[in-house]
Amino acid sequence: MSKEIVVSGIRSTGNLHLGNYFGAMHNYVRMQDEFNCYFFVADYHSLTTHPDPKDLRANVYRVVAENVASGLNPDKVALYAQSDVPEIPELYLMLNMLAYKGELEKVPTFKDKVRTQPDNVNAGLLTYPVLMAADILIHRGVKVPVGKDQEQHVEMARNFANRFNSRYGEFFPEPHAFNYNDKLVKVPSLDGAGKMSKSENVNSTLYLADDDDSIRKKVMKAKTDAGPTEHNSEMPDYIQNIFQLMHLVSNPAIVDTYRSAYNNCTIRYGDMKKQLAEDMVTFIRPIREQALDLQNNAEKIQRILKEGAEKARESASATIAEARRLIGIHYY
Ligand code: ADP
Ligand code: TRP
Repeated sequence: MSKEIVVSGIRSTGNLHLGNYFGAMHNYVRMQDEFNCYFFVADYHSLTTHPDPKDLRANVYRVVAENVASGLNPDKVALYAQSDVPEIPELYLMLNMLAYKGELEKVPTFKDKVRTQPDNVNAGLLTYPVLMAADILIHRGVKVPVGKDQEQHVEMARNFANRFNSRYGEFFPEPHAFNYNDKLVKVPSLDGAGKMSKSENVNSTLYLADDDDSIRKKVMKAKTDAGPTEHNSEMPDYIQNIFQLMHLVSNPAIVDTYRSAYNNCTIRYGDMKKQLAEDMVTFIRPIREQALDLQNNAEKIQRILKEGAEKARESASATIAEARRLIGIHYY
């Protein structure tokens, strides 16, 4: 039986963080041994905010380097830049004809952007989910490892696939958001407000490029309180968040000890944060060091991107040829 097809991308808009790692890359690394994987740097998606052209190359290299340092093996997967696969924008154009202004305007991430960047509500932002659908459908992907925040975008990709199929004939399989534990992940930010992200909440997001001291400082600043006064009391969100982060990087026995201490009101948050800080440092340090080495090795990154693009285009060109045929674009 042929292996199921996996597709996922990360925007090249800044340093990768723990949310990207546990929402996405952690799954990529496991999936590379089981499935036929296409992972890419979503550089076209990054253009919605008009980045300085001088920054693009370093941004893309960083995403590649941090993925490889996190355990992705470019020999096992196709690791490429979105802009190296011209079949993606071609499929994007086709899918745009099946996407309605009304449904795109209702997408919560679009509405957020309208609120936060009212001076730059461009058409690329509106059709962002269509480009994402093209990214996935171009390889006829079925499993899409992403964090919780992308669930709705994947659902839209599924709708566009079905719409294409009902108009032109059954062709695209239905893609689904994927996480090994079923539940999609949302890594909370250290200030308890929202999720970790590349550009917002910089001081409460842990980046894979953070040095040891910044990691310690950020963790120690995480919001806590005087501690519970009643046994087995309910945990406030910001304390739950610290437990959730600890659960990601610390030994389960240690997490249990702190959970019991919480339940019998003997917990000392200062100690807990110190432990978490050291476990974070141990987790992030080797990734940071390897990523730094790799980012300075332009030749190696270029080789990875070229080989990745070749693999991706092989699959993409087969899909686009069939999509054109189904739509009726075959004149000679
Ligand atoms: P960001 O939102 O930080 O700019 P991207 O939009 O490029 O990152 O997201 C890349 C991947 O990382 C997606 O699969 C997304 O769902 C995941 N991701 C981003 N932030 C988090 C988070 N805090 N928790 C879980 N997953 C996340
Ligand atoms: N939109 C995703 C994000 O902001 C990144 C992305 C682009 C993506 N294309 C994709 C994720 C295709 C999965 C599949 O996080």
